[in-house]
Amino acid sequence: MVHDPNRVLIFDTTLRDGEQAPGCSMTQSEKLRVAKALAELGVDVIEAGFPIASRGDWESVNLIAKEVQGPIIAGLARCNREDIERAWEALKDSPRPRIHVFLATSAIHRQYKLNMAKDEILRTAVEGVKIARSLCDDVEFSPEDASRTELEFLAEVVEAVVEAGATTVNIPDTVGYTVPAEFYELFTYLKKNVRGIDKVVLSVHCHDDLGMAVANSLAAVSAGARQIECTINGIGERAGNCSLEEVAMALKTRESFFGVHTGINTTRLYPTCRLVSQITGMPIPRNKAIVGENAFAHESGIHQHGMLRHHSTYEIMRPEDVGLSRTNLVLGKHSGRHAFRQRVKELGFEVEEAELNRLFEEFKALADKKKELFDGDIEALVLRAASGAEGPWKLADLSVETSATGAAVTLRLQHSDGRVIEQRMSAAGPVDAVVKAIDAATGNSVQVRKFEVHSVSVGEDAQGEALLTVEHNGRSYRGSGVSTNIIEAAARAYLEVINRIEATRATAERNGERRNVDRSAASAI
Ligand code: KIV
Ligand code: ZN
Repeated sequence: MVHDPNRVLIFDTTLRDGEQAPGCSMTQSEKLRVAKALAELGVDVIEAGFPIASRGDWESVNLIAKEVQGPIIAGLARCNREDIERAWEALKDSPRPRIHVFLATSAIHRQYKLNMAKDEILRTAVEGVKIARSLCDDVEFSPEDASRTELEFLAEVVEAVVEAGATTVNIPDTVGYTVPAEFYELFTYLKKNVRGIDKVVLSVHCHDDLGMAVANSLAAVSAGARQIECTINGIGERAGNCSLEEVAMALKTRESFFGVHTGINTTRLYPTCRLVSQITGMPIPRNKAIVGENAFAHESGIHQHGMLRHHSTYEIMRPEDVGLSRTNLVLGKHSGRHAFRQRVKELGFEVEEAELNRLFEEFKALADKKKELFDGDIEALVLRAASGAEGPWKLADLSVETSATGAAVTLRLQHSDGRVIEQRMSAAGPVDAVVKAIDAATGNSVQVRKFEVHSVSVGEDAQGEALLTVEHNGRSYRGSGVSTNIIEAAARAYLEVINRIEATRATAERNGERRNVDRSAASAI
């Protein structure tokens, strides 16, 4: 139970609901990195995964439970003993574990998905909460598809799970169907009609199918919700979840309207959003609220004039409040270690001295290739080093010849077992030739689904970031690469994909991995 009635808890589900977004899967070490960044950001709860979904998910939840201190660590489970016990096994090493059980309640889900009658739903939900409570003091229950559930039945289920011992009750708009006024009424109804509701934390969980996840979450807070479930950059199933950075800044900027506050250290928002974007390969749209490149840019003359007079004319938040420093200071090859260290710090990154020295060498090498280095270049440098994509292959050399009729590439790859493979390949275009050459050299063959290149800073010598998504054995993998040469960036991105595929294969072989829950079933939640 929250002591401060005006404190809204932030429950981050980037690693569970966010990771369910197509192409957003993360490796174990990437998840741990994100979890540590979330703890630094000041979230109250980290939903680390769905332990029954696979051995890999279980291991990630367990690793985070052991390694991340501060926030509550939650794991998702369906309302059955096997799921709940598996979740508990993964979570129990955390100083603050939470089991999050869920069961769909709407007529549509009862009929088509579960084939269960109302009384069976009620019994199963209560049983699930009781099993969870027998293991853990902190238990959250979610009636999936709550926003499309008959109000009276929803209230009945909520009352029953509160009675059974749930400590948080979360109301999901699973399919992003509701609208703010309606959702406000739903929460008001529950507050009024559910016995014992004031004993638990009432939570909200919104999806963004109609672009209203943040607005709906805020409406729920106005009606009394005191936990918001959200993800960094709003990533998640389909159109995504409520975006953490947007909802946190809405509550901070309009604190006098909402009368509540969160524990989020908003100056960590920008670096955390960039980190998750880098790790998931999901670029942040330029015009994205709070952390998009244009969020604090003023283009028109009238606006610039107003800003020069006083920033409050056209700015409702200060960039530094979200961790963005206003000066896009330019560094170059004459900039010293001190200036570099200072800029890395101002951009919100904490890097140990040995790592900083290594990055400084990379910075120097890059400064030899391009005259000026902007914030985007420095960020790309730090984030790439931090993402630490694992795998056996490294690009040792690449040369490209192009003409009006096609392209040929020659590349040299180094394997961690000592092999060096040289491969030449021709194709209609250089990226196609790179993909074919890497396939031939590594013995892989995958289907490229998406290929994008965008610049990480400005100017004709700007570095390009290549983002690639591929399909392999029914799973999607992504990779990113940054270079002043965009063909090299594409080669690095593709090699990252191959490394991820080989790492997945190696883990599966090691574990004899059997997915307990088919991924498509997991993504139906
Ligand atoms: O969207 C949803 O209903 C969920 C629940 C499992 C909370 O993600
Ligand atoms: Zn969800």
